Amino acid sequence: MERIINNTCKIYIDEGYRSFQKCLYEVCNLNSIEELNKKYDAYFVICDYNTYNYQLYNMMTHLHGSYIYEYIINPGEDSKSLEDYERIITYCKKVNLSRKSLIIALGGGVVGDLAGFVAATYMRGIDYVQIPTSLLAQVDSSIGGKTGINLGNSKNIIGAFHQPKMTFINVESLKTLPEKEYLSGMGEVIKYALIKDYDLLNYLIDNYEDILDIKTSTMINMVRRCAQIKADIVNEDEKEGGLRRILNLGHTFAHGIEKLCNISHGEAVTIGINMAFKLSLRKNLIEPEYYNKFLELCEKFQLPLNFNYEDEKEIFNIMKNDKKNSFNKINLVLPVGKGNVEVVDNIEEDLIIDVIKECKNA
Ligand code: GLY
Repeated sequence: MERIINNTCKIYIDEGYRSFQKCLYEVCNLNSIEELNKKYDAYFVICDYNTYNYQLYNMMTHLHGSYIYEYIINPGEDSKSLEDYERIITYCKKVNLSRKSLIIALGGGVVGDLAGFVAATYMRGIDYVQIPTSLLAQVDSSIGGKTGINLGNSKNIIGAFHQPKMTFINVESLKTLPEKEYLSGMGEVIKYALIKDYDLLNYLIDNYEDILDIKTSTMINMVRRCAQIKADIVNEDEKEGGLRRILNLGHTFAHGIEKLCNISHGEAVTIGINMAFKLSLRKNLIEPEYYNKFLELCEKFQLPLNFNYEDEKEIFNIMKNDKKNSFNKINLVLPVGKGNVEVVDNIEEDLIIDVIKECKNA
C-alpha cells in the first residue's frame, strides 16, 4: 500500500479494499473496530448504479459498523443538482445521520463532488471519505476537498472546500470501467505531466501499452505520481488563492464544451488542453515539438482533440462566466515550457474565439 500524507491530504493507494478499515483507524488515530464504532455511529455510503453493481459489495465486506446505509444516484453530471442534493439530505435526516456519522463517497467525480457537498453542509459539516473508482477521480477530483453541485450552465457554482478524512484509492476498480471512461481520465493524468512533471510525460509514452492494459503496478505508479503532485499543490494552496489554479489547465475551455457538446469531463479537458496548447503556440510560448508530444499521447490513448458544436461563441460565453475569472478577465492556464504552465489573464478575446474555432470538427 502507498501512502501520501501531508497536513491537508491523506491518500492511500492499494489493490482492493482489504486495508480500507485499517487506513480509517490510522487517519482517526484509533486502534480497533470498537474505537472506530465509538467515533462513528453510522456509515452512509453514496454511490451510483455503476459502483453499486461493481464495487459496493466488495467494499462493504471490509466495512464493519453497526449501522450502514446506502444511497444510489443516477450516473452522470445531471445528478450534481439541487434536487438530488435535497433528496440526499432528506434521506440523511430520515435515517437520523448525526454529526458523528461518516459519509463514504464511492464512485467517480460526480459521486465525490455531490457526496462531499452533502458532507460539507449536513449539520454544518460532518466527516467523509472519498473512495474514487474512476481514473479521473483517483488522480484529481477526490483529492483536495473541492465539493459542489451545478446550477444551470454554471458548473460547481454551489460548493465548499471540505477535506475528506482520507482518499482511499483501489486501483483495481479501474478494471471495471468501460474503456472509453477509463481512457477519458488520461486527459487529467496528462495534465499533471504538463503542469509539473515532464518525466511523467515520457513515462506515459514509454508505458502506454501497460496503461492501456490497466496493469496494476503501472496504475499504482501513475496514480501515485499524479496524487503526489496534487497533494503537494493543495497543501501549499488549499483554497485556490494562487498556485492551485494551475490544476485548471484546459478546464476553463472544458466547462463550455462539456455542457454544450454532451461529452464527459475528461474528454472535454483534453480538448481544452489542446486549445491551451494552440494559444501557447500562437504566443510563441512553447516549441511545436512539445505540442507534438501531447498529440502523440492523445493518439495513443484515443483522446479527442476537437468538438462537435456549431456556435463557438456560445462556448466562449460559458468560459466568460467561469467562476475562476476575476474582474471580467478570462483566466487561462497555458503551457509555457516542458512540464511548466502559467496563469494568464490578458489573452485577446478574438484569439481565444479563433482557437476554439480551430478545434471545431469540420
Ligand atoms: N480539479 C482541480 C482542483 O481540484 O483544484
